[in-house]
Amino acid sequence: MKATAAVTHETGKLSIEEVELAPPRASEALVRLVATGVCHTDSAGIQQYIPVALPAIFGHEGVGVVEEVGLGVQTLKPGDRVIMTYPSCGTCDYCVSGHPWACDQLNTLFFDGTFKDGTKRFSQNGVEISSFFGQGSFSTHVVVDARNAVKVDVDSDEELARLCSLGCGVQTGAGAVLNGIRPEPGTSLAVFGCGGVGMAALMAAKLAGCYPIIAVDVVPSRLELALELGATHAVNGREGDAVAEIKAITGKGAHASVESSGVPALTLQALRCLRRLGTCCVVSVTGTDTVDFEIEALVMNPSVTFMGLTEGGSNPQVFIPELVKFYRQGKLPIDRLIEFYDFRDIEQAFADSHSGKTIKPILRFAK
Ligand SMILES: NC(=O)c1ccc[n+]([C@@H]2O[C@H](COP(=O)([O-])OP(=O)(O)OC[C@H]3O[C@@H](n4cnc5c(N)ncnc54)[C@H](O)[C@@H]3O)[C@@H](O)[C@H]2O)c1
Ligand SMILES: [Zn+2]
Ligand SMILES: [Zn+2]
Repeated sequence: MKATAAVTHETGKLSIEEVELAPPRASEALVRLVATGVCHTDSAGIQQYIPVALPAIFGHEGVGVVEEVGLGVQTLKPGDRVIMTYPSCGTCDYCVSGHPWACDQLNTLFFDGTFKDGTKRFSQNGVEISSFFGQGSFSTHVVVDARNAVKVDVDSDEELARLCSLGCGVQTGAGAVLNGIRPEPGTSLAVFGCGGVGMAALMAAKLAGCYPIIAVDVVPSRLELALELGATHAVNGREGDAVAEIKAITGKGAHASVESSGVPALTLQALRCLRRLGTCCVVSVTGTDTVDFEIEALVMNPSVTFMGLTEGGSNPQVFIPELVKFYRQGKLPIDRLIEFYDFRDIEQAFADSHSGKTIKPILRFAK
């Protein structure tokens, strides 16, 4: 069938064109897109900081309606509303033990642009096109593996369109807290970087009953919003020493911290702001950047836990429906983060994401 997609033929470029989409294979579904989020990882691919084979269709926070399923698909049927998320193989020891975010084939399935069998679904004039994250959601239609399409209980396409970021950004931030740190009620938690991911971490900290919840950012408007969405204290990292301020607020240091600013040096602050037995969870993607830290900061603090998590340690088929329930109860106010754009205004959406004007741009597709 034909689809209309934003295709990247050359580094940094997007062009809206007609492409060919092959039918779903046995474990796959054809999905008509309702909307898709725009995530920083898409820009990293478009700019080729992540070397995805071009031509490629980026986008990995798509939501839509299933139109057709392969013969082996039992979890989805035409008409189902789905949130699409990150791919995993389903057969490695990490996947079968319930840890798909640590899948052996993670890098291949996220970034090679191919499906599990090594093939591609999009093409144009006989030239194959990569699907980023096994999705390529900057397209009116996609084929995805049923493992990375989560059926959700929502009332309308309008509501579904608001949930795009559950597939990546919100899942990452909320999961860092709820799946990674798993804080006890009444314990303190600091979040470094209040973008889409950090705001979701703050909302999850509130859900978990943390106190105090400290937001660290350098943009005053972000800190104001953080205070409305879950933070009890705000620290402007440009105006003072964030570690000292967190220690002053908490007394001994934070029980836990999340690093979601994408600034490598803040990993050290997120580690140093902890009290003894604290836990630091790093979710930023910073390429090959490195930081130096004294091993004593882990051992003689003493005994802190330092963890990294992909996609919030989420088992999407379980965690995404839980997040939808929280959203419907008003406990995950992600509407405050989003701004809608027409799919054809994708360049503007990226520009507003880069400038910080919009926390989470959502591209909507005309029906
Ligand atoms: N682990 C994963 O699976 C996963 C998934 C999605 C995103 N990510 C990563 O998470 C990170 C955050 O993503 P996002 O979409 O929220 O990004 P974002 O750019 O929207 O948010 C980053 C925030 O950090 C703030 N910031 C920048 N410099 C700062 C400083 N010096 N001190 C304090 N705050 C500072 C910015 O003002 C911004 O509010 C990125 O690195 C992204 O690539 C990881
Ligand atoms: Zn796997
Ligand atoms: Zn993402």
